[in-house]
Amino acid sequence: MRKVYLDHNATTPVHPEVRNAVAPFLFNLFGNPSSIHWAGRDVRKAIEDARQETAAFFGCQPLEIVFTSSGTESDNLAIKGIAFRKGNAGKHIVTSAVEHPAVINTCRFLEGQGFRVTYVPVNRHGIVEPESVRAAIAKDTILVSVMNANNETGCVMPIREIGRLAREAGVLMHTDAVQAAGKIPIDWKDLPVDLLTFSGHKVNGVKGAGGLIVRKGMEMAAVIHGGHQERGRRGGTENVVGIVGMGKAFSVLRENMSDEVRETRRLRDRFEKALFDRIPDLVLNGHPTDRLPNTVNISFRFVEGEALLLNLDILGIACSSGSACTSGSLEASPILMAMGADPVDSQGALRFSLGMGNTDEDVDYAVESIEAVVAKLRAMSPLVRREAKAR
Ligand SMILES: Cc1ncc(COP(=O)(O)O)c(C=O)c1O
Repeated sequence: MRKVYLDHNATTPVHPEVRNAVAPFLFNLFGNPSSIHWAGRDVRKAIEDARQETAAFFGCQPLEIVFTSSGTESDNLAIKGIAFRKGNAGKHIVTSAVEHPAVINTCRFLEGQGFRVTYVPVNRHGIVEPESVRAAIAKDTILVSVMNANNETGCVMPIREIGRLAREAGVLMHTDAVQAAGKIPIDWKDLPVDLLTFSGHKVNGVKGAGGLIVRKGMEMAAVIHGGHQERGRRGGTENVVGIVGMGKAFSVLRENMSDEVRETRRLRDRFEKALFDRIPDLVLNGHPTDRLPNTVNISFRFVEGEALLLNLDILGIACSSGSACTSGSLEASPILMAMGADPVDSQGALRFSLGMGNTDEDVDYAVESIEAVVAKLRAMSPLVRREAKAR
């Protein structure tokens, strides 16, 4: 069976150069990077090289990077690290209604610890408006956390403007750039942001490594206490394979990101246009242009996203639905609900995210399959019959 992977926002295949770079660390380079003897020294060097490569990609200083296990851990470190350090100065955090659970649930945890959190709404295109953030900032606000790009819709947020107004108000700014990294340019040097989250497995690295860029000189609490790794900011023996792989992934991206992005955008645009040309009653979720170049989120009216997803899986097509099945009924994605999307239409929403390895043949096969499955499901759909009667 043909297999087409259109779920690169969930995770990405490991780049062949990453595979080659990490292989020695699964064989003879096994030392503990904290050991000062020969076995540790080469491994320490590899980690520091990865830090250099990662820093070169983002345009930050190597020592501004704290390696972690994931984007999730980096989000926790950023938000709790600031909350626990600056909690005496204020107990208010501003974030958005469309953040990843790694941010939302960290904020919810802090609400249980006596913090106040404002979840600012998004506009109907799924974008956080700087004015809403400005209005939410209060005297006791210590942190603004707004994602660089949304994982479900691909919407790119105006983090530069938001960072600027946070700075004017004397408030620290964190951005979750897990989805943005490698898809849109990020230049730490002139970004008015104090903390930035990234993750290795979203950029063709291996799973289990992420990082947080922390503006030089900034003080924050540690979340994982232990040894002195990462200059005391994150205890625990480093995931050498993950970090080396991530460093290589970023160095590959630095070389060829613009070509990769151009090709992915071409394929995504062709895919999106073909679907809208061939299938009636589709709704685009997210901003038409302020969107990651690889992502398209569409509501297929009169069908259930889960049914569509499973039927496409049978045909070898991997994509994602934001809806979750709770007690037998489908709940529309909280992200789409926050955008004010129609709850019934949103149950038929699927996210397609393209990336390394996708081809024109993949797009053709996916479009044909989706058209056929949507037609089949609509033929059985009570929603279609209801709509037809109403017309
Ligand atoms: C925007 C965003 N933030 C954070 C994460 C979590 O990253 P990780 O899987 O590395 O924990 C994800 C993963 O989907 C994401 O899309």
